[in-house]
Amino acid sequence: MLKISILGSTGSIGKQTLDIVRNNKSRFKITALTANTNIQLLCEQAKEFKPETIAIADISKYGELKRMIENDIRDIRVLSGREGIVEAATYENTDLVLSAIVGIAGLEPIYNAIKERKRIALANKETLVTAGGIIMKEAAKRNVKIIPVDSEHSAIFQCMGNDRNNISKIILTASGGPFRTKTYKEITKATVADALNHPNWIMGKKITVDSATLMNKGLEVIEAKWLFDISPDKIEVCIHPQSIIHSMVEYADGSVIAQLGVPDMRLPIQYALTYPHRIEASGKKLKLTEVKQLTFEEPDLNRFPCLKLAYDALQLGDSACIVLNGANEVAVNSFLQGKIRFTDIYRLVYSALEKHKITTVSSIKDVYLIDNWSRNVSKELLKKGGYS
Ligand SMILES: NC(=O)c1ccc[n+]([C@@H]2O[C@H](COP(=O)([O-])OP(=O)(O)OC[C@H]3O[C@@H](n4cnc5c(N)ncnc54)[C@H](OP(=O)(O)O)[C@@H]3O)[C@@H](O)[C@H]2O)c1
Repeated sequence: MLKISILGSTGSIGKQTLDIVRNNKSRFKITALTANTNIQLLCEQAKEFKPETIAIADISKYGELKRMIENDIRDIRVLSGREGIVEAATYENTDLVLSAIVGIAGLEPIYNAIKERKRIALANKETLVTAGGIIMKEAAKRNVKIIPVDSEHSAIFQCMGNDRNNISKIILTASGGPFRTKTYKEITKATVADALNHPNWIMGKKITVDSATLMNKGLEVIEAKWLFDISPDKIEVCIHPQSIIHSMVEYADGSVIAQLGVPDMRLPIQYALTYPHRIEASGKKLKLTEVKQLTFEEPDLNRFPCLKLAYDALQLGDSACIVLNGANEVAVNSFLQGKIRFTDIYRLVYSALEKHKITTVSSIKDVYLIDNWSRNVSKELLKKGGYS
């Protein structure tokens, strides 16, 4: 019986993970669940899965959550705040922590879970984008396995197996998002509803907007660099609108290994839970004769400059990746609130990066300091309209 803490259980990845657990009750046991504000759903999940601990990040919701839960469940610890989430991530009766929190809020709990030698199933890519070097070093030191949940990284992880020698490149596939066939002029007029209308995947709002700008692919390039210890010039992005090939690995002899499947996040999530084994899954299986065609295109960096920005940040240094991520979180939030246009996301992140002076990053504290700087500068730029 694998004992699991799910951080961000009320989100898209969190709910799909619980779906897998629901179908495999004899294999998995939920010991901790966490959310940010959604106490209603967290409460329902707690009643169904009977964890020993739950935590809500938003401290103002703690009292209400405690009242709601104590009517139905007696033996449950209810925690709150950042410390509460960290406690859920490091809970002694947990074997594996699945991180499905969105944004840099996922970093601190995972860093602490690694220190406690928990096995990690990582969906929260922002953890590696902002602190990849620190996280991978800590994981290696404590012999902790980090298993990717992101479908592309899961694909690469599966393609590589134990053969990590003589890899000539990694090919990350991308659907291209809802604006793949739109002109730049059309993209400048994109509404929030247009950006959230992803052709292949149903995901949380932040990653869906990131997929529309292709910043998501940029974040994945940074994630891949750290996960697979590969230099950025060996990471290629290829637009593949059908989202059937989830990514590929090319070896020195020219052989390319690909992982295919229907676009369903439950596949990589389940593999992260059962690795190195595979078990039956309830989802639809791939039928290539129904798909008929798999097509590929070069990404257009003129219409989707956020992807290039991520490569630039990687080249500039670790602190630039933190600034990229922080400014992007602010920009996406502002876009979702209707405060800026879709194409302003790039302009804002670019301007924040332009103001940044590269600095060394040697601790989690450094990461948060630079992240804070990035958010403040981005908010200031937003207020003054000073981004170009
Ligand atoms: N969705 C996908 O298909 C997919 C695929 C690959 C990778 N990922 C990655 O997985 C992560 C989660 O994505 P998602 O689409 O599942 O996001 P989501 O639907 O927005 O869910 C985010 C989860 O994190 C919680 N949360 C938000 N802010 C928090 C904070 N400050 N502190 C603690 N918890 C917080 C939310 O709680 P509330 O519900 O209370 O707000 C929710 O449970 C992201 O890093 C994303 O890039 C997602």
